[in-house]
Amino acid sequence: MNHFVYKNDDLFCEDVPITGIVEKVGTPFYCYSHATITRHFRVFRDAFKDLDHLTCFSVKSNSNLAILKIFALHEGGADIVSGGELFRALKAGITPDKIVYSGVGKTPEEMKFALTSNISMFNVESEQELQALNTIAGAMGRKATVAIRINPEVETHTHPYIMTGHSENKFGISLENSLQTYESARQMKNIDVKGISCHIGSQLTDIDPFLNALRKLKDILQELKKMAFDIRFLNLGGGLGITYEDEKPPHPLEYAMALKEVLGKENITLILEPGRVIIGNAGILITQVLYTKSTKNKRFVIVDAGMNDLIRPTLYNSFHAIQPVKIIHSEMVVADLVGPVCETGDFFAKDRKMPAFQSGDLVAIMSAGAYSFSMASNYNSRPRPAEVMVKGKLFSIIRSRETYDDLIHGEMIPEFL
Ligand code: LLP
Repeated sequence: MNHFVYKNDDLFCEDVPITGIVEKVGTPFYCYSHATITRHFRVFRDAFKDLDHLTCFSVKSNSNLAILKIFALHEGGADIVSGGELFRALKAGITPDKIVYSGVGKTPEEMKFALTSNISMFNVESEQELQALNTIAGAMGRKATVAIRINPEVETHTHPYIMTGHSENKFGISLENSLQTYESARQMKNIDVKGISCHIGSQLTDIDPFLNALRKLKDILQELKKMAFDIRFLNLGGGLGITYEDEKPPHPLEYAMALKEVLGKENITLILEPGRVIIGNAGILITQVLYTKSTKNKRFVIVDAGMNDLIRPTLYNSFHAIQPVKIIHSEMVVADLVGPVCETGDFFAKDRKMPAFQSGDLVAIMSAGAYSFSMASNYNSRPRPAEVMVKGKLFSIIRSRETYDDLIHGEMIPEFL
């Protein structure tokens, strides 16, 4: 459920008409609904309330400070994958004891930053990373708390670029090497092994892969207990999918019930790292039609947002619903919705039935809260769009539209030129 609804043929975000925001902010811009974000977060978190658990929002899905602040205010944690994400999470007020750090390529500087910040845990993804962390923690006179990220090798049905739990993916440590890695970790003076983790992929709309992964993690947990490890945390990652078109992912309650059943009465804290399921349908991208044109066999609607603002359609062939901001055209046509970037891959929808948009019309590209602004770039030297948050009748810019000066920030022409 989200709070983007039509009132008298005008698209609203909560109690604010989108056209009202356009007047103040221009286009393109991302618009997020505070009520949707908080609702999604609470539903997800509360689905696990009878379990000792921590919900760590996956910062990579949307890393705007104002968005992160909402989770900080709800005592949520953060799942981070870089020093930059740690910086943002801390700035937003997420407490370090609720921050977990994944990623296959943590640099020494990032490890130091995370250790000085006293984050809760590193999800370690290789033996070499473990050794590096041990050395760095030792040099700092500290102990690093870690979970070993296991690749549980489960079948998932999602886009190949966002599958992470198969043996050919770069993530985690293989099942067969896992116990050995725990043994090496135990030998390291500056490592405190406290957890087991995995993340099997993203936009999963079926519950079985999660349950299969959990079963495999539980098996390892039993082995570790026999080996006298004191494992306190089981981190199942993120990955729960959302409805972009007609997908029917399990409701967080159903997901939680199924997980709890498989988990049984383990004496551990369950960590979850949801991103998309919280923020995906809490944001939309508003853009304006510049021109329309037709070729022999195609009709194009050219808008002022481009693939640099939202790369998902071209990168993952993903579907985003296209809706009018004002319902004015009853005629529907089949067209491509494209941007101004000089790439054939610069599209939001192909051969899609949509209202017969005309120049000047405003268009909403739906389900653009997750992996949308956070994956935006300046390609074609296009300033990134503004971001706006709506709360009831109020709205506020939470990131200004970039300027041309922002585009060249940090660039220098050397003296020898
Ligand atoms: N935890 C870890 C370790 C992850 O790698 C990810 C996502 C998550 C949690 C959050 O997953 P979520 O709940 O959002 O599915 N750019 C792609 C998605 C990449 C996901 C990467 N990892 C897209 O636009 O679909």
